[in-house]
Amino acid sequence: MGLKFAFTSLAMATVAMAQNCPLQFDGRVPAGSTPASFDLDTSPFGTKFVFGQNLTMSQVVQLPNITGSLFDTNTIPVEVTLSDASIFAPSATNIQTGFRRAELQPASNNGTDPSTLGLKTLHFSLRKDTARPFNLSHEYQLVFLEDAAFSTNQFVLKTGTISGQPVGQNPDLLVLQGNVNQDPVDNLFNVSFAQDTWHNFGVVLDFDKNTTQVLYSTDNTPLANVTEPVFNDISGQGQFHFGALKKPTGDNLTDITKQGFQESGINEGVIYGGIFEEDSTGGCVSLSAGTASAANATVARRWRR
Ligand SMILES: *[C@@H]1O[C@H](CO)[C@@H](O)[C@H](O)[C@H]1NC(C)=O
Ligand SMILES: *[C@@H]1O[C@H](CO)[C@@H](O)[C@H](O)[C@H]1NC(C)=O
Ligand SMILES: *[C@@H]1O[C@H](CO)[C@@H](O)[C@H](O)[C@H]1NC(C)=O
Ligand SMILES: *[C@@H]1O[C@H](CO)[C@@H](O)[C@H](O)[C@H]1NC(C)=O
Ligand SMILES: *[C@@H]1O[C@H](CO)[C@@H](O)[C@H](O)[C@H]1NC(C)=O
Ligand SMILES: *[C@@H]1O[C@H](CO)[C@@H](O)[C@H](O)[C@H]1NC(C)=O
Ligand SMILES: *[C@@H]1O[C@H](CO)[C@@H](O)[C@H](O)[C@H]1NC(C)=O
Ligand SMILES: *[C@@H]1O[C@H](CO)[C@@H](O)[C@H](O)[C@H]1NC(C)=O
Ligand SMILES: *[C@@H]1O[C@H](CO)[C@@H](O)[C@H](O)[C@H]1NC(C)=O
Repeated sequence: MGLKFAFTSLAMATVAMAQNCPLQFDGRVPAGSTPASFDLDTSPFGTKFVFGQNLTMSQVVQLPNITGSLFDTNTIPVEVTLSDASIFAPSATNIQTGFRRAELQPASNNGTDPSTLGLKTLHFSLRKDTARPFNLSHEYQLVFLEDAAFSTNQFVLKTGTISGQPVGQNPDLLVLQGNVNQDPVDNLFNVSFAQDTWHNFGVVLDFDKNTTQVLYSTDNTPLANVTEPVFNDISGQGQFHFGALKKPTGDNLTDITKQGFQESGINEGVIYGGIFEEDSTGGCVSLSAGTASAANATVARRWRR
């Protein structure tokens, strides 16, 4: 029927309109999508991971009727939700009772694909759902790259009470950390997780040089550099996650995937928009839906229509 066609053609229409550099993957959700669209192979995201064992992706996502983010032109925001059923089971015998998880993963990002090679810029925007607030006594991973060996996260955006950070630190921050296997972990950038605001990120990942650079803006403001490219070990390829991974509370936990405390009656969510990755070879980085940085005018012009 018509849905498959509509989904594909809308997704393709946004490519020419909404940014200027070659796309590696596009996780922007075509207008007209429904929760059921997220259970189909035409979804921009995988349909099997990462969410509660007995749930479907269509039960996890909501499509709030709000204004899209910086890079959403004919595309719409998508919310992921957490409930008591958000217990992910990587296998029948490995049930992550310590976590509550709901994450989107770009469909083409299989762990060894080119999205984690060369020079790439990851784009995403996020905002709070004030009707489904987080419990800031817990730590949340929001956006992260997990390496193909499942041995580290090469970068991770967190909020809440973050393990390893000073006691008394404001939990209502967005904190972008570098590789979590580094001791101590580097905080690359942080900003207040203000409500009723789109928080737009660009993360320039130079996999040939092991550097990470952060760009940030709010609402409709074009992205701006907020760090230089800094050393950060981003080797090991892997998969990007966009959502909420809620960690347990508790002292002296030895396996947070299975131990610790999670309250019951959870009704939480976080809204994403403008998820895509572009090829930044030659310096092409999109700063808003209509402009790329001038670092490589040839590439920027070549892709402008
Ligand atoms: C979405 O919001 C707009 C503006 O508030 C409103 O006009 C429209 O009817 C809403 N659509 C739905 C499906 O609720
Ligand atoms: C999923 O459903 C099965 C069968 O009812 C149940 O045994 C299991 O505990 C459920 N898993 C979760 C994470 O709730
Ligand atoms: C992952 O994707 C890459 C490139 O798209 C492909 O070459 C590779 O075979 C895929 N790997 C698996 C395990 O599917
Ligand atoms: C928030 O989390 C803390 C620590 O797990 C828990 O004690 C508290 O009851 C939770 N609050 C709500 C409103 O669920
Ligand atoms: C947040 O960034 C500011 C400005 O760079 C810095 O002074 C502060 O230490 C950072 N806080 C955290 C928690 O990373
Ligand atoms: C990135 O850093 C890691 C750790 O030092 C190293 O093993 C890897 O070879 C580096 N990759 C590149 C492309 O320099
Ligand atoms: C942002 O950083 C890039 C890479 O270091 C640099 O080429 C560019 O000039 C910077 N942009 C601005 C406006 O400073
Ligand atoms: C956690 O470990 C510390 C240091 O060993 C100990 O003082 C504390 O009592 C432990 N807490 C719990 C809840 O077991
Ligand atoms: C711009 O990008 C093109 C294509 O990737 C590359 O051949 C060229 O060297 C780049 N120019 C600059 C100035 O980086």
